[in-house]
Amino acid sequence: MLIHSATFVQSSPSVKSCPQSTLPEYAFIGRSNVGKSSLINMLTGHKGLAMTSQKPGKTQLINHFLINQSWHLVDLPGYGYARRSLEQREQFRKLITQYVSKREALVNLFVLVDIRHEPQRIDLEFINEMGEKGIPFSIVFTKADKIGKQVQQEAVEAYRSRLLEDWEELPPLFVTSASTGMGRDELLDYIDQLNRMIAEQES
Ligand code: GTP
Ligand code: MG
Repeated sequence: MLIHSATFVQSSPSVKSCPQSTLPEYAFIGRSNVGKSSLINMLTGHKGLAMTSQKPGKTQLINHFLINQSWHLVDLPGYGYARRSLEQREQFRKLITQYVSKREALVNLFVLVDIRHEPQRIDLEFINEMGEKGIPFSIVFTKADKIGKQVQQEAVEAYRSRLLEDWEELPPLFVTSASTGMGRDELLDYIDQLNRMIAEQES
C-alpha cells in the first residue's frame, strides 16, 4: 500500500474525546520507549509526524493520525514506565484499557516489544489480557537493526514458544526497524488487507 497522505488529527486525553469517526483504526501500544511513535513515522514516511524522544514517557495522550484520507493510525502512551508515580501509571493503564475495550473503530492493536529483550512479564500480562478480552492484536518486534539476523530469529522463536505456553494459536508477528524500514511493507500490507475486508463487509 502506498501512503499518499498522513496528517495529525488531534490528541485526546480520554476515549470520550477521541474523534467521532468510524474510519478503521490501528493503534500502537507497548512499553514506554519501545518505539511506537518512531514506527508510526517510519510507516507513514513522515519523520516528525509522531513525536519521539530518547526519554521514556513522551506520548501521554491518544494521538490520531489520518492516513490516505481513509483510516487512522493511533499512537498511545506507553505502559509500565517505572519513573512515573504508581498513580500516574495506573491512570495511563486505565486510559489504555478503556481505549482498547471501548473504541469501536479499533480494528487491530499492534503490541510492540523490543526484540533485544527476553519476554517481559509486563508485556506477557498485557498480551494475555488482550487475548482474554478478545481484542484483535498482532505482535511487532522493534529495533531489529540493533541485533543480527540470526539473533532476531532466535528472539522471535523464543517469544513464540513462550506465548505458546499460554495460547494454542498465535497472532501475526512482525519484525521491524524504524531505522532501516524493515517490516514496513509487511505491516502496511496487513493493514491494507484488513481495510479491504472491512470495506467488503460494509458494501
Ligand atoms: P513513549 O512515547 O515514551 O512511550 O515512547 P515510544 O514507544 O513512542 O518510543 P519512541 O518512538 O519515542 O522511541 C524511543 C527511542 O528509541 C528513540 O530514541 C528512538 O529513536 C529509538 N528507536 C525507536 N525505534 C527504533 C528502531 O527501530 N531502531 C533504533 N535503533 N532505535 C529506535
Ligand atoms: Mg511515543
